[in-house]
Amino acid sequence: MKRAEIVQRMMFDYDSMSEVEIRELCVNLPKKIIRWLGAHHPDNRTRKIFFRLTNITIGEGTVINQNFIVSDGYAPLLVIGKRVAISPNVTVICESNPNNSQLQQFEHVRDNLICAKNILIDDDSWIGSNVVMLPGITIGKCSIVGAGSVVTKDVLPRTIVAGVPAVKIREFKRKIKY
Ligand SMILES: CC(C)(COP(=O)(O)OP(=O)(O)OC[C@H]1O[C@@H](n2cnc3c(N)ncnc32)[C@H](O)[C@@H]1OP(=O)(O)O)[C@@H](O)C(=O)NCCC(=O)NCCS
Repeated sequence: MKRAEIVQRMMFDYDSMSEVEIRELCVNLPKKIIRWLGAHHPDNRTRKIFFRLTNITIGEGTVINQNFIVSDGYAPLLVIGKRVAISPNVTVICESNPNNSQLQQFEHVRDNLICAKNILIDDDSWIGSNVVMLPGITIGKCSIVGAGSVVTKDVLPRTIVAGVPAVKIREFKRKIKY
């Protein structure tokens, strides 16, 4: 089957396809197409299959809305826990570099800005629309990141943060029962 036919099938026949079938068809697709399908496919279950195939760990019960953009070079840098809610248009930057720019000549850029770091979005957290996460951060369990925030530092469990840069605006004292 040609690549175009595979993509067409997965776009329009996804609800009659098993995960095994989708995974088998993806063997014939480059990673960048699989990741693109993850970001733009209309169905949550199917999106997650594509993200997992490109090295993102995703726990059960997690919902990832459309236009979820991850910069990781397809390396296993992003871990998303269980029952996480990711709203539309979220960007996660694990790997960061200025491409072909000569900025790499500056020590500060080389030593601090060019990097590839892990990001953890832990269980039961809720990431608002249009959030941006910078390399190396952890979003703690049961925390909320307000819409439009830029997360530059770790977010503690059961904390609400918002803004640019994201700062704490509230915390939940009581732990969730499991
Ligand atoms: C952050 C949020 C969760 C509200 O939390 P909250 O604890 O109820 O916060 P409040 O509404 O009491 O606001 C507290 C302060 O934070 C500010 N604030 C709230 N949301 C903010 C945001 N996204 N960015 C910046 N500041 C925000 C409020 O203006 C308020 O400021 P003030 O104290 O100067 O008046 C909510 O505003 C939000 O952003 N939710 C995400 C919704 C979303 O993206 N849904 C996607 C579809 S599923």
